[in-house]
Amino acid sequence: MDHFQHRGGQLYCEDANLDELCARVGTPLYVYSKRTLSEHLQRFTEAFAPLRPLVCFAVKSCSNIHIVKELASRGAGADVVSGGELYRALAAGVPPERIVAAGVGKTAEELHYILSSKVAWLNVESEPEFELASQIAAELKIKAKVALRVNPDVADAKTPQKTTTGKKGSKFGVDIDRAPAFFARYGKDPWLSLTGLHAHIGSPIFSPDPYVVAIGKLLQLTAQLREQGLGVTSLDIGGGFAANYDGTAPAWSSYAEKIVPLLAPFVAAGGQIIMEPGRTLTANAGVLLTRVQFVKQGGGRQFAVVDAGMSQHMRPALYDAYHFIWPTAVAPDQAPSGYGAEQNVPNLQAYDIAGPICESSDFFARDRKLPPLQRGQLLCVYSSGAYGMTMASQYNSIPRAAEVLIDGAQASVIRRRETYEDLVAHERDVTPV
Ligand code: LLP
Repeated sequence: MDHFQHRGGQLYCEDANLDELCARVGTPLYVYSKRTLSEHLQRFTEAFAPLRPLVCFAVKSCSNIHIVKELASRGAGADVVSGGELYRALAAGVPPERIVAAGVGKTAEELHYILSSKVAWLNVESEPEFELASQIAAELKIKAKVALRVNPDVADAKTPQKTTTGKKGSKFGVDIDRAPAFFARYGKDPWLSLTGLHAHIGSPIFSPDPYVVAIGKLLQLTAQLREQGLGVTSLDIGGGFAANYDGTAPAWSSYAEKIVPLLAPFVAAGGQIIMEPGRTLTANAGVLLTRVQFVKQGGGRQFAVVDAGMSQHMRPALYDAYHFIWPTAVAPDQAPSGYGAEQNVPNLQAYDIAGPICESSDFFARDRKLPPLQRGQLLCVYSSGAYGMTMASQYNSIPRAAEVLIDGAQASVIRRRETYEDLVAHERDVTPV
């Protein structure tokens, strides 16, 4: 459930009319709904309440500090994967004891920053990383809790190939069968207390079953380590929970029904569960609004060229990802129902929705059936709150979009639109080195 709805043929985010908003703020524009964000966090947390998990929002999915702040003010922690994300989380007011720090290639500077920030858990992904972190902790005289990221080799998490992470041969973590040796070697480190396990098996995952397999392996490993006299006090099961891109995302309760009973005994025995949801909280809390520049025909196809492309939102071009798209202003009988590609609406025409970037992969959709489009019309690219703005670039020297947060009828710019001067600002000074 989100708060982007057509009313009388006009798209609203909560109580804000999005055509009126774009007339004031311009396009392309990312718009987020505060109510959707907070409801998503609340319902997700409720579904897993019996586990009393520490819900660490995956900052990479939507890293604007006002979004992170909103979630943090409602109890979320943060999952960060770089020094920059840690900086954002701290700037947004996330308490360090609710931050977990991961990342496959942390630099010495990042490890220094993470350790001196006293985050809850440092998630380590290799032997050399553990040794470097231990050396830095000793220099800083800081003790820290460390979780080992393992790769549980879940055969078929049914994730898109480019976002699969849980199979053998992935660059993330260490193979799960190497974990006992890792614990035996580093389990008694004087500075780093190796007492946690972490796994993230990919994303998005549209079924609870891969989690069941991965958690089963984590629990088995925990039991094996206990026999070796090595205690695991925390299991971080990662993120990857689906977003409602096309109406096929399982309810949070259906993940919870299978995951909660599996982990309940670990929690009853005093263990802590950490979860790292990103897109499931933010994707449907944000949209990208883009204006039709031109409609043209060619090679038997009809193109709608819009003012945002893969530089503003690269998921369709990079992953062939499906995003529901619909005009913001339509006749009342042309309002969509749900986010499926097939809409039971009269008089639709097929369009390829193309961006302005000089790349032939720069499309948001192909052959999409939409009400007739014309120059100047606003289109809404739904479910864009996750991995939209955070993956945007300035390719083709197009300034990045502004971001607006809606609260009821109130709209606030939470990131101003970039300018041409922003494009060159870091190049003005030439510094001999
Ligand atoms: N935890 C870890 C360790 C992760 O690597 C990720 C995502 C998450 C949590 C959050 O996953 P989520 O709940 O948001 O699915 N750019 C791609 C997604 C890359 C995900 C990378 N890791 C996309 O647009 O689909």
